Amino acid sequence: PSYQLIGSPIEIGAGRGGCLMGPDAYRTAGLGPSLASLGHDVQDVGTLWVDVGPDIPHPNPAVHHLAEVVAWTHQIAEFSFHACRTEHTPIFMGGDHAMAAGSIGGHANAAHHDGRPLFVLWLDAHPDLHTLDTTESGNLHGTPMGYLTGGTGFEGIYPPLAAPIPGPNICMMGLRSVDPAERAAIQRLGIDAHDMRAIDETGVRAPLEAFLARVRAANGRLHVSLDVDFLDPSIAPAVGTTVPGGATFREAHLIMEVLHESGLVNAIDLVELNPFLDDRGRTAKLMVDLCGSLAGRTILDRVTRSA
Ligand code: ARG
Ligand code: MN
Ligand code: MN
Ligand code: MN
Repeated sequence: PSYQLIGSPIEIGAGRGGCLMGPDAYRTAGLGPSLASLGHDVQDVGTLWVDVGPDIPHPNPAVHHLAEVVAWTHQIAEFSFHACRTEHTPIFMGGDHAMAAGSIGGHANAAHHDGRPLFVLWLDAHPDLHTLDTTESGNLHGTPMGYLTGGTGFEGIYPPLAAPIPGPNICMMGLRSVDPAERAAIQRLGIDAHDMRAIDETGVRAPLEAFLARVRAANGRLHVSLDVDFLDPSIAPAVGTTVPGGATFREAHLIMEVLHESGLVNAIDLVELNPFLDDRGRTAKLMVDLCGSLAGRTILDRVTRSA
């Protein structure tokens, strides 16, 4: 594919600063050249920015920086809508996970425009399914999936969605920190959710292949949203919300390798990297390496298996 790198340095959705530096950390870690070395066209279109007006008051007193998150959501959604209507595969370099309201929201509207369903592979310790009313931390990186699945209370504040994303079109892997309201939402929406216990039992390949078969059968578009905290903190320390017991190096690479072979990926989010917390760039480099596997890097030539 032809990749389009776009910096989306929203950081106010997270509980602490630092995700602002994410796009430049990916550039320093060589994301563009690494993809180009695999034979792809790569275009770095730069870094988005927003102007923020006065804050928007909200009845939930925990909610903070709503106006800034809404401004970013509009900006990123607009970019995503247009990028997803081209042949390019945008890679949104975050930025915290609040970014996904825009990147996936714009993608959903583009898919709707083309009469195709959107599917989302959500790789994260958290489902980020809160609404503005249920969030207790008020950190809005915990809410993008609430918005995208049609949760109440976003209307008139966030950009309108052509249609909410149905739960069965969303596959979540790596869950290990789920709040009660989110747990209920996963159940109610019928999200294809795999917590770490399920991954321990089945591995990552079988549930991923089953999901990809559904994407293919529906002629769907696919958005992959990768939160750094999907990975175990021992290999990916540069994130503000570490949770023990995450995906291993090989589980993460296998997911990326299977995604490459599927040929189905249309857009990618790289979120929650906080370079201020990194250890000599190792987390940024791991994320770049995972993108390499997603873009077709293999260890040996592979013999095509016969059916
Ligand atoms: N559920 C918690 C909250 O609402 C944690 C959210 C973490 N989200 C993230 N994108 N890291 O505050
Ligand atoms: Mn437009
Ligand atoms: Mn997240
Ligand atoms: Mn997370």
